[in-house]
Amino acid sequence: MVEVSDNEIMSTDIASSPAWGRLTGLARPRHLRELFSGDPDRGRRYVLEMADLRVDFAKQTVDDDILAALIGVADEAGVAQRRDAMFAGEHINVTEDRPVLHVALRTPQGASITVDGQDVVPAVHDVLRRMGDFADRVRDGSWTGATGQRIHTVVNIGIGGSDLGPAMAYQALEAYRHPDLTAHFVSNVDGANIAGVLAGLDPAQTMFVISSKTFTTIETLTNARTARAWLTDALGEGSVPKHFVAVSTNVDEVAEFGIDTANMFEFWEWVGGRYSVESAIGLTLMISIGPERFTEFLAGSHAVDEHFRTAPLPKNVPVVLGMIGVWNANVLGFDTKAVLPYAQELARFPAYLQQLDMESNGKSVRLDGSPVSMATGPIVWGEPGTNGQHAFYQLLHQGTRVVPADFIGFANPHHAYREHHDLLVANLIAQTEALAFGKDRPGEPHRSFAGNRPSTTILAPRLTPSVLGQLIALYEHIVFVQGCIWGIDSFDQWGVELGKELANRITPELTGEPHDAVEHDSSTTALIDWYRSNTRRD
Ligand code: F6P
Repeated sequence: MVEVSDNEIMSTDIASSPAWGRLTGLARPRHLRELFSGDPDRGRRYVLEMADLRVDFAKQTVDDDILAALIGVADEAGVAQRRDAMFAGEHINVTEDRPVLHVALRTPQGASITVDGQDVVPAVHDVLRRMGDFADRVRDGSWTGATGQRIHTVVNIGIGGSDLGPAMAYQALEAYRHPDLTAHFVSNVDGANIAGVLAGLDPAQTMFVISSKTFTTIETLTNARTARAWLTDALGEGSVPKHFVAVSTNVDEVAEFGIDTANMFEFWEWVGGRYSVESAIGLTLMISIGPERFTEFLAGSHAVDEHFRTAPLPKNVPVVLGMIGVWNANVLGFDTKAVLPYAQELARFPAYLQQLDMESNGKSVRLDGSPVSMATGPIVWGEPGTNGQHAFYQLLHQGTRVVPADFIGFANPHHAYREHHDLLVANLIAQTEALAFGKDRPGEPHRSFAGNRPSTTILAPRLTPSVLGQLIALYEHIVFVQGCIWGIDSFDQWGVELGKELANRITPELTGEPHDAVEHDSSTTALIDWYRSNTRRD
């Protein structure tokens, strides 16, 4: 292992390293047909196992030399050193001067992770216990609403990481839900979202979980105020403590909003929003699937954390997949990455990964503020198979752009329609084969497939809470590895601030409320004028 100091990591651009030179020196056109015919054992050799996941990267355009060179780059970039710094609670989020410890959320009791001299694991388990007690009471009906009726509907109000994680996991784990409890997720400030959810709900049987790390997010507070008015119109002010709980790091703002802080579930500033589904932000999920299943969910992620922390780099799944992503993005120049779950329950997984990856690694400057010298985070997108096959796969097979894809599938479904499932999985496997090898039809260019379109296939026996936890941690650590290579801060999100600031300035211009004079460009002014002259406020 190369010894590197923190300062060296922050200031050294990997592009100028000998390891990078060795990697780029291996770039030459290779077809997967050639790679497979030259190595009959490739389909077995290029598979790694981690917990319940079987990860097959044989259909990526790498060979042993490229893999070794990629690991050399990871070594030189100090991936292991930065990973250890994360697990040790160091302030690796440098622009916000914070540790990055979502891994502590799934650390078992008894282990310790110290942040600024304090072990955070006991506090994590205290909150998990409080969440568990509360979830059990809602689940068994002993927590009742203001009229004495039990809760049948939980509405999570949050956005970004305070929505996408729990909403994705609630859908993913539908087989494990409590039969008498339904959850809804309201995120968008578009009133159509909350109006659609509230319509048809009974206030006496509805609980709101207001989820916001900062408790200052305008969308969430606007939706929370609307929900509060809807409830108190029906049941009076006194009903709020029985129907509103908060999940946040910000006690003062929760109290200011009027939620009893006894009904607040805490998390900590060292949990990034997009890494928070396993914190109290998962409360709605826990109410739905129960504390035991939630514990299994955490244990799945922890198993992957342990693998990431201890496996040698060449056998370390997040490292290998992260580095293959670097090969695809920075050496082969592929700009996007498709995530294609062959599981309807994972329909929101690509959207979840969009925030995880694009908010983490969509950066243009390095840790020391200097501009990056190569492309950073890919554009992540996707839809469940087989629907996507009848929409955008045409481009994947015959378009001019190459889109590396992750296929995710399971041996066993939660439903009884085995025939459907066999067809589903046949399609998954067939797509990876067709993309990789294509088909030549001499004299028929429109019907020919060039192939050589890379993919990774991730399989597991079944989509359980643990397996979902494993998938989440796998992608979190892939993002981490790539952030190390690019030398960026994967844990801040300054890029979302400007739009928020400008929206706050524009709002009074639209409503006509008093405001300071604001100068805009001619396009923005015309958009504001158009809206004002077409708005009916009666
Ligand atoms: O989009 C920016 C962001 O800060 C995300 O990182 C975060 O998940 C989301 O807003 C919601 O923030 P909060 O949980 O503080 O309401």
